[in-house]
Amino acid sequence: MAVRLGDEAPDFSAATTAGPINFHEWLGDSWGVLFSHPADFTPVCTTELGAVANIEEEFKKRGVKIIALSVNSVDDHEGWISDINETQNAHVDFPLIADPDRKVAELYDMIHPNALDNMTVRSVFVIGADKKVKLTLTYPASTGRNFDEILRVIDSLQLTANYSVATPANWQDGDDCIVVPALSDEEATEKFPQGFTAVKPYLRVTPQPNK
Ligand code: BEZ
Repeated sequence: MAVRLGDEAPDFSAATTAGPINFHEWLGDSWGVLFSHPADFTPVCTTELGAVANIEEEFKKRGVKIIALSVNSVDDHEGWISDINETQNAHVDFPLIADPDRKVAELYDMIHPNALDNMTVRSVFVIGADKKVKLTLTYPASTGRNFDEILRVIDSLQLTANYSVATPANWQDGDDCIVVPALSDEEATEKFPQGFTAVKPYLRVTPQPNK
C-alpha cells in the first residue's frame, strides 16, 4: 500500500552496509531521508549516491540521517561504493539497505512495475523526528534527483513545524514566508514581532521568523 503524508513510516529490520538495523531504532530522535534507486552499478545512481555523500554534512547540520536502498545485496553495495567513491570524488558513509527479496521496497511501494520491471524507482521519503512521513517524491529511473531541493524542503518542513508560517514558491532559507491562513491579523501581529504585509487579505508575508 502507498505510504502517504502523515502516516507513520513503516518499520522494518534489514541488512545494510553498516550491519543489521531496525529502522525506527536507527532513526532514534533524528529526522531521516530514506531513498531508493533502481540498481547498483548503474550510471545515474552512481552520480546520485556520490552527490548525497558530498553534501552529507548539510543533512547532519539539520539533524537528518540518510539511508539508501536498492534490491541488491550487501556485497554488491560494498563493491559499488568503491566505484562511487572513486568516480564521484566522494566518501559514502551512510548505510545502503540490501533488499534482494524486496521486503522494504514493497512496504514502501517503491516498485512501480508499469515504469520499471522488478527494480525500485527513485523514491524519497523524508521522515520527521516523530516518525511521521513529511514528504514523498517519486522520480523515474532516467532522471537523477536534485538533492539540494530535498535540503530546501527539509528547511521548510523544520521551519513550518515550529512557526505559523508556510513557504512560497521557490523559497530558500532566509526568504520571506507566508502567514498561515488560520491566523487572524491580530494573532499574526502578536506572533510576528517583525510585522507582516497583507498583499491581499489571504496573502500575508512576514520575514522568516527564526532569522
Ligand atoms: C541508472 O541509474 O543509470 C539507471 C538505472 C536503471 C535504469 C536506467 C538508468
